[in-house]
Amino acid sequence: MNDRTLLLAGNWKMNHDHLEAISAVQKLAWALEDAKLDDSHCEVVVVPPFTDIRSVQTLVQGDKLWLKYGAQDVSQHAPGAHTGEIAASFLSRLGCSYVVIGHSERRADNHETNEVVATKIKAALSAELTPILCVGESLEQRQEKSHVEFTLGQMDESLAGFDAADLSGLVIAYEPVWAIGTGETATAADAAEMASAIRVRLGEKYGDALAQTTRILYGGSVKADNVAEIVASADVDGALVGGASLSGPDFAALCKAAVAK
Ligand code: 13P
Repeated sequence: MNDRTLLLAGNWKMNHDHLEAISAVQKLAWALEDAKLDDSHCEVVVVPPFTDIRSVQTLVQGDKLWLKYGAQDVSQHAPGAHTGEIAASFLSRLGCSYVVIGHSERRADNHETNEVVATKIKAALSAELTPILCVGESLEQRQEKSHVEFTLGQMDESLAGFDAADLSGLVIAYEPVWAIGTGETATAADAAEMASAIRVRLGEKYGDALAQTTRILYGGSVKADNVAEIVASADVDGALVGGASLSGPDFAALCKAAVAK
C-alpha cells in the first residue's frame, strides 16, 4: 500500500463540442452517484477540448460535482502576441486542476520536442496547474527493446532544469504509442515494468520523497474490463483514458472497476 491517490483521467482529445461536453459530464456524474466515491478512493478528471472548459466549469461548480477537469495542452508563453495559443493562467482562472503536456499526438502532429514540453511544464507550474507529462515509446522502439531507455530519456529531457521542489505533485503518464487507440493494450506487466523504471529514475534524480509521491499513470486502450489488472501493479497509480472516457456511463464503469481492484 502507498499514500498515492488513484487518478482516473479521461482525455477526450478532439471529441465533444461544448453541448456534448455538458451531457457527457452530467451522465458521468449520474453514473458515478451510486458508487459514492470521494477523495479517499480516487480522483476522477475529465480533460475536454479548450472550447468546452467554460461549460464544464459552470456545470461542475454550479452542481457542486465531485469531479475535476483539466486541459489537453497549454502554451509555453505568457499572455501576449501568440495567435491561437492558450495561456496557463487562463486555464487556472477556469478552475482547471490538470494539464496534459507532451501527449504523443501533439508530439507527432505539432512537432513538440522535449524542450518545448519542458517549457510548457514550467508555464503550467507557474500557474499552479498540475502537469500530466506524457511519455512512451513507438512500436519500433519496443521491438528493438529500447523502450525503457527511450521513455526515461524523454522524461529526463522533459524535466530538464527542474528540481524536486518544482515537481511535487507532478503526474507522469506512460502511454506507449502503439497502444493508443489501437485496442492493443500493454500487458499489466509491461505497464508495471515501465512505471517501476520511471519511479526508480525519479528517485535517482530527485530523491526518494518525490519518487514515492509522484503518481504514474498508464494510458493506451484502457477499458472498464482491463483497468483493474493494470492499476493493481504497485507502481501504477491510475489511468489516462482516451476512447473509453467519451461516454459518461462507460467512464464511470471504468472508474468503479479501478476503485474495486
Ligand atoms: P485510448 O484510450 O483511446 O487508447 O487513448 C489513450 C490516450 O492517448 C489517452 O491520452
